[in-house]
This record gives sequence, structure tokens and C-alpha cells, in this order.
Amino acid sequence: MCGIIGYIGDRDGLEILKYGLKAVEYRGYDSVGYYDGRLVKDVGKVDDFLKKVKDVKVPFIAHTRWATHGKVSAENAHPHKVGKIALVHNGTIENYKALKEKLPYEWKSETDTEVIAALLDYYNEEDFLKTLEKVLPMLKGTYALAIIREGDPRIYFAKKDTPLLLGIGEGENFVASDLVAFLPYTNRYIRLEDGEYGYIERDKYVIKGRENIRPQTFEGDIKAAFKGEFPTFMLKEIHEQLDIVPQVLSVDVSEVREIFQTQEIDIIAAGTSYHAAWYLRYLTGFNVHPYVASEYPYLMREPKWVFAISQSGETIDTIKAVKQAKQKGAKVISLTNYVSSTLAALSDYVVPLNAGIEIGVAATKTFLAQLLFAHNLIGDKDIKGMKEAVRRGLEAPLFELTKPKIFFLGRGINYVLAMEGALKFKELTYVPAEAFPAGEMKHGPLSLFDKDTDVVFFLGPQGRELAKVNMEEVRARGANVHEVIFPDKYYELSATVFLQRLAHEHAVRWGKDPDKPRHLAKSVTVE
Ligand code: M6R
Repeated sequence: MCGIIGYIGDRDGLEILKYGLKAVEYRGYDSVGYYDGRLVKDVGKVDDFLKKVKDVKVPFIAHTRWATHGKVSAENAHPHKVGKIALVHNGTIENYKALKEKLPYEWKSETDTEVIAALLDYYNEEDFLKTLEKVLPMLKGTYALAIIREGDPRIYFAKKDTPLLLGIGEGENFVASDLVAFLPYTNRYIRLEDGEYGYIERDKYVIKGRENIRPQTFEGDIKAAFKGEFPTFMLKEIHEQLDIVPQVLSVDVSEVREIFQTQEIDIIAAGTSYHAAWYLRYLTGFNVHPYVASEYPYLMREPKWVFAISQSGETIDTIKAVKQAKQKGAKVISLTNYVSSTLAALSDYVVPLNAGIEIGVAATKTFLAQLLFAHNLIGDKDIKGMKEAVRRGLEAPLFELTKPKIFFLGRGINYVLAMEGALKFKELTYVPAEAFPAGEMKHGPLSLFDKDTDVVFFLGPQGRELAKVNMEEVRARGANVHEVIFPDKYYELSATVFLQRLAHEHAVRWGKDPDKPRHLAKSVTVE
């Protein structure tokens, strides 16, 4: 969940550092640093850090952190330097304590990363690939690494279970955890596979054990990686939902449709993607069973088919669950925005989400795209009707939530909206907001309701009459009820856009950054 960027070439190091760090900042943003022969790192936001950086030498490696081991502090920020080795890391090393005990170093940080630098320094051989070959198998856990060794002009790298890509330019090369970190400079890239390691030079890249590799070319719209005139990525991405409807519905789903119509399928997903799984279930009535990815290993029986939904295709919980299902013999269909992701590589069938790059940590247009996939699956491609519904969601006036207790309620498919509404709201505002199926209130939660309660009630056509009864029940307890009203036609799509705007608006009003909610990151690559 950290962001990595490394560069070797003739461009101005400061320019690449500034662009690259900003581009990967969404992956983690509690501290930041770089190594270019000098070790510079601090806690805080990338913008504040960059104001103090005057020049950067090349090659350099840099990092934005989402803390796992050790508090947010300058010592724990990356890069870590031990002896001749400086490195940045995304992932977690489970056996770092045991490894530390065996090594004769004084530790400067509480991180699991520092021990990797120490191991590489301890076993440092002239041929550093041999050092990597020796050290990497000692690490139990996950890693994407970019490494600089004093006196060596290369940037070395290694990858296991968290994403790492090479950007291949003319007379320059990059290593990064995301394409967007180098897209303005080159659209040719290589997605590294688990267990791979190697190095980049200005005119050369070497991946041990893989020869004659042809880089892939990114053909998507790079403009998506910039905010343009919008104050936040999230708001920009909310508005892009009007445009993505045709491109998402243009995806051919005929092959997987037949599987959904005839097979029993476990759906594995996390967060917002999990809500999309329930939407699919309610909308289609297919024989599918949504599971939270991190819980699936405890619940799985003998699945014949699993369907994994993941915007990033890199969510570790989803990937691990899929791997375990595969071990049990399951076939895998995946729906992802990144067809070259780790998840896609594990799948028998990959359906591209086709939503375009999403930078804001909150999933917005990719959630809508996941909902549209469900419509596509049942042959519903009413582009005009869906766009009108999205427009209604964009234009509807918002209401204000002011109470200390906030609930999102709905029945049937409206409960999916309630779950997503509550997640978006708490994720962005840090105010507790809970979702319940409206009919479930009287089985316990109703005792929470009083005049200090705001309720957002989704009243789409499914289950509306009974939902209205439930709404009166909470009103009678003094709660301040806000009805989400839209025309029935694609009510859920209008309400989706509305609930995203509601969360964004309150976050901004309360001084929170919707693009970078605290403690979170866009793709969750640690368990
Ligand atoms: O990339 P994924 O779809 O696998 O991500 C799953 C969740 O981490 C993600 O949807 C998360 O819940 C969002 N930040 C919610 O806005």
C-alpha cells in the first residue's frame, strides 16, 4: 500500500520525483522520502515535503508510505539505508524480528523493511544479482523493492505478491508501483511477476530468468491521471460517470454470461467491490454467493467457480482467496480495471471493467462500472436511460447531515446503496456511519435511534412499501430522516452518484481531503 518510484536516465531528477511521487501518493501518504546518494525523508504530505526539495540526482528511488510496522515517524519513513544499501519497500515481512536477531546491526527504525536492507548489505557480493538470489528466499512475506547500492549505477528491483512495473523509455527506465508514475514519459511497460528480480540501467533492463521480453504498450487515456479543472480527483471521477456508460457496456460479456446463467458461483471481493457483488446478486437473481474476500478462506467449501471483483486487481485479500479457491480446483472469472493485474493473471476469464484510471482513494466510477457490468450480464444495455439516471444523480440537490449518529437504510437492492453510502461517508468524513437492512432495525439497532440521529433512506422501487413503514418507525423515534428520491428508472444508478457526492461534499465541508482519507490507500496490498 505504499508507492514506489525509481528513475534512471537524463531527465531532471526533481521533475520526475515531483511527478512520480504525486502520482503514487494515493497508495500511501503518511510519510515520504527519496535516496539519490543522499537520504532525505520525513513525515507528512508529499506537497509539503516537495516544497523543501531543491534538486535530485539521478538515479534515485523514492517512496510514499502507508505505515504497517512502526508508527508514522521520520525514522520509519522510507528509504531505509543500511551500510551500502538504500531501498524502498511495499509489502510486509512476517519474519523480520527473527531475521533481525541474527544480524549484527544497530536498528534505526521499527520497520520490517530495514532488515531487508541489512540482509542485502550483509550478503553484498560484487554480482548483486547473486546477493538478491541468496537473500530474497529468506524473506517470508510480500515485497516490491527498489534498491540502490552505493557505487553501483543501477537500480535493482524485486517483486513478490505486491505490484511492481518497469517503465521502458528511450535512454531512460523507471521502476514503479503503478503505471501512472511514468505515463507522461513512456507508455511502454513490463508488469513484473512474482519472484522476479533484476535491474535497470539507462539503456537496459534485465529480469533474471526472463529473456526477450517485449514491453506492453498502454493505450488508455493518460488525461485520466490528471485532475484538470476539478478540485479533487474524486469529484472529477464522479462526473466522468456520465461518459463511461457506453464504454463499460461495450464490453462483450456473452462468454461469461452463459457461465453465470448455468453455474453456482462464489463471488469474492472487498470494500466497495463487495457491495457490487451484492448488487449483482439482487439485480440478476443468479445463483451467486457474495463473500468478503478476507473471510472467504474460512467459509469456502468446494467451489467450482469463483468470480473475483477488484478494481485494482491487486487487493491481497482477494488474490489470496482466489489462489486458495484455485487450489481447491475452482475456475476463476475476474472483473477488473487492470487486465494486466495479478488477479487477471490468475484468472481463467478476465472481464475488463473499462472504467479508465481512477486515482481518488474512494471508488466511484469503478463502482458504477461494476453495477453496469451486472446490467450488461442480463442483457440490459439501455445507454440513454442509464446516462439520464447518472445525470439525475449529478444534478440532484444534496441535504446536510449534522447529527452525531448517522445511519444509511434500505430494503432489497436499496440495502446495497445503504452499505455503499455508509462506507463512502465514513471513509471520507471519519464520522461513524452504519448501514442496516431497513427491516432489520427492530431486531436491535432501533434502540440507537433518537433526535441525535440522521437517517439516509434509500427508497427505490424494490421493497418500497415496506421500507416506508420502516422509515416511519425511525421517524417516530425522533430521527431526522432524509429520503433519497429519484425516478424509478435506474433509481440505483442515480442514488449511487448521489451518495458519492454526499460523502464528497461533507468531507470537503468538514475540512477532510476526499482524495486521501487518513489511514487508507487506493490498493490494499497488505493483509
Ligand atoms: O481494488 P479493489 O476493488 O479490490 O479494492 C477493494 C477495496 O479496497 C475498495 O473498494 C475500498 O473499499 C474503496 N476505498 C472504497 O471506496
